[in-house]
This record gives sequence, structure tokens and C-alpha cells, in this order.
Amino acid sequence: MGSNQSSYCYHQSNKFQGTSEQLQAIEQIQSEFQITTDHMHAIVDQFIKEMQKGLDHHGATVAMIPSFVSGRPTGEEKGKYLALDLGGTNLRVCQVELLGQGKYHLHQQKYVVSDQLKTGDMRHLCDFIADCVDDFISEHGDPHEKVDMGYTFSFPIWQTSINSGELKQWTKGFACANAVGTDPAVLLQDAFHRKNLLVNIAAIVNDTVGTLMAHAYRHPETTMGVILGTGSNTCYYEDISRITKFEADNNKILSNEMVVNMEWGAFDCERRILPFTMYDNKLNRESVNINEQLFEKMISGMYLAEIARNCMLHWIDRLVLFGGQSSPELNMQWRFETAYMSTIHGDHSPNLTATKHVLEDIMDMPAGSTTLADRQLVQAICIAVGQRSARLAACGLAGIIKHKKMINDDDDDKKNDCLIAIDGSLFEFYPEYEANMMSALVDLFGEKIRHRVRFELSRDGSGLGASVIAMMASKMAKQ
Ligand code: BGC
Repeated sequence: MGSNQSSYCYHQSNKFQGTSEQLQAIEQIQSEFQITTDHMHAIVDQFIKEMQKGLDHHGATVAMIPSFVSGRPTGEEKGKYLALDLGGTNLRVCQVELLGQGKYHLHQQKYVVSDQLKTGDMRHLCDFIADCVDDFISEHGDPHEKVDMGYTFSFPIWQTSINSGELKQWTKGFACANAVGTDPAVLLQDAFHRKNLLVNIAAIVNDTVGTLMAHAYRHPETTMGVILGTGSNTCYYEDISRITKFEADNNKILSNEMVVNMEWGAFDCERRILPFTMYDNKLNRESVNINEQLFEKMISGMYLAEIARNCMLHWIDRLVLFGGQSSPELNMQWRFETAYMSTIHGDHSPNLTATKHVLEDIMDMPAGSTTLADRQLVQAICIAVGQRSARLAACGLAGIIKHKKMINDDDDDKKNDCLIAIDGSLFEFYPEYEANMMSALVDLFGEKIRHRVRFELSRDGSGLGASVIAMMASKMAKQ
């Protein structure tokens, strides 16, 4: 890709056979979602400024929250822990046995959190979680044995210690009453007491931090933990001396570095630099957290398909797509899912049959009503939205890489300065996501970056990672 050009397009194995209006629509979409290399550089510069503000003072847009996790796991940690994961698609309860030498056993059970619980009273949510933990322990554990738990709570909290904090705001469609401003660990611990469960919340953990620690248990040189899933966020090891707002209690700090949970989803809520389109603005206006998490809303799996749906409706209303016809399914907010975008993005069949299936069988467009050109236009939209997400995520990573001076220019032969652990459905399943992030990094840093940065999928953050942190926390508490 040339430095200022976009490669966003429908897959070009087919010649485009639509009308000139449709071709123009594709060109417009490509340019609306394009992020040039110059623009990416500007985003990275702004991102670094915001990181600095977050490290300097409380209340900054990019919150840069000290996680109280300092030091790196050695892989030799041992013991049995419970872990809980709230904030992804499901609630997960896990029992993890750390065996040392980077090895472990994990049992887990998933529970569905209903929309009613996600938006009801926090006490009900905590009681529900306690019921799930009770159910899990009756099945897999010993109800009479006291056990430490790592609680992965994947929302922005101002952490006040390894196992306490204050919820700043909800994200990702959660909106429970009586929770913001309170300590989620205390509320859950109370629910455990009400049920007489012998579970002690030893650590409260962001999923990015869990992902970093899970990977570091096996690869201690890991530098960042990233989530590219329903939501998006990153954490990394920061020198404590650079977290100027942090008042360290030196007796409790095991090392000179600490993991910082960035909460990067909030980046550019001031709208200084991100290339918002009218489709992003519509999504934002109709979301439950208006004007919050604007970076996350352009990147993460919860939102991408809604942006694409808004774009499709725009071209339907101009009679350019589907001859102006829509379907009740396509008209419904959130009904088009990012998993469908993945299918469409990855559809290389000559007639775009997988795309046809999504549009006609799932989104209920009348059978046989979509033309190949319609499907190519839809594919162009999905590719443009998906690629923009990967390029923006890469800008965030580039900001950290530059801020931490991770890439050593003098030593050309040095390999893999930066090992990045990533979890989440976008990274794992979305076609070409990793390649698109890497190609954006190449646009920013040049070809050498390919040997300096390595992305690795790390699936067990909220189970293994939270347990490793619970273990480190209980070790700290005993010291
Ligand atoms: C939350 C973060 C979390 C991320 C990924 C965001 O909405 O604010 O705390 O790490 O989602 O789950």
C-alpha cells in the first residue's frame, strides 16, 4: 500500500458490474473510512499526549489506571484459585490450578447474563453472580474450603488497591443502578457473605491485565495485554517513576514497574483527531453511553456491525443499495452482528454466496432480491469498517511503542522487542485483522517493525491471568 492510499475494497476477484451510482458509492465509502498514514501519525501523536496526561493526573480522558499489579510472574506460581469473568459476552466461573513451570489446569462454566440483569439493580447482578459461583463450587469444588478468587471485572474502575476500587462508569451496554461510585469487589463480597460462600476476593482485575499476566506466566517477556473483542482496551508495564499521579506505598510494591490499565476506549472523547463519520455519530447518539468510549465505538466488536448497518441504510435510503428496499431485520438497531461482517469480509466466492446467505437468510431480505453488485457494495462497507478498526487499534499500540521507546533503532538485528498478548473475538476470528494491524504498523514505522513486534493470541486472561494475580495478591498480603 502506498503511504497515503487506501486499499479498502470489495474483493476484486469479480469485476464490479453495478451502476455508476453504486461505483461512486463504493468510492465514497472507501474514502470516508480511509485513514491515511499522515492521519495515523497525527492520531499516534495525540494518543501519546493523552497517555501522558493520564499518567500525570487523575480524571484525564485516557484514565491510565495503576492496577497495583507490579512485578512479573515467573511461571513457578502454584496453588488453587477461583476466577470470575464479568464484562465479555458471558459470565465465566473458573477453577484454576497453577502447577508451576507455566503449566495449569482450568475448569470453567459459562452463564448467560440477561439484558435485564445488565441494566437492573447492581445488588441483583451480584446475587446472580453469587448463585453462579455457588452452583460452580457445588459441582467442581469443596464448599467447606476457603478459597481466594481473582475477579475479572472488565469496566473502568479507579483502583485503590489490588482488591478494591470504585466503578467510574459502565461500558459495553451494561448500566446497572447503584454501582457507579461504589466498589464492585465489596458489593460482590457482600453477596458471597449473604450466601455463606467461603470465597475471598483477593484481586480485582481488568481483562487486559489478566491477559497480560496469563501470557507472562508462560512468556515472562510479554509487554502488553490487549482486548479486541466486545470492547477494546490495553494495558502495559509502566515505570512507576513515570506514573506521577500514583502515590506508591513502597512496602507493597514488588518492583519498579506496574501494569497500567489504560482504558483507551475513552480516547478522543473531545473529538480532536479521530475521523468520525456520520455513521459513527448516529451510533453514538443512539447508544446508552453517549459521547463516551468513542475510540472503542470505532474499534470493538460490539459496535462495528452497527456502523456498517448505518452505512447500508444510508445507501438504501438513496436507492443505491437493494433498489431502495430494506427488511425489518436490517432496520432493527444492533440486529446486524459483527460475526456476520466477518463472514462477509471473508467471502471470496465468485457470487458472494456467503454474503447472500447473511443478507437473505439471516437479515431477511427477500430471497433472490440482492444482486451481485448489491453484495459487493455491502462487502465494501464491511471491509472498510473492519480495516479502519484494525488501523485505529494499531495507532493505539504504536502510541505505547513510541512512548515506551520499545523499538530500538540502533540494533537492526534485534528481534521481537515487543511481545503483545491479545484476546478477543475480533483478533481471533475477524478475517485479516492481525495482518491489517501489522500493515498499519508498517505504514507508521517501516518494514523493520515486522521483526520487532509479535502479536500472540492469549485466551485464558480472565481465568489463568486472574488466578496468577490472586496468587500474587495473597503472597503480598502475607508479607
Ligand atoms: C472497558 C475496559 C475493558 C474493555 C475490554 C471496555 O469497555 O472499559 O475495562 O478492558 O472493554 O473488555
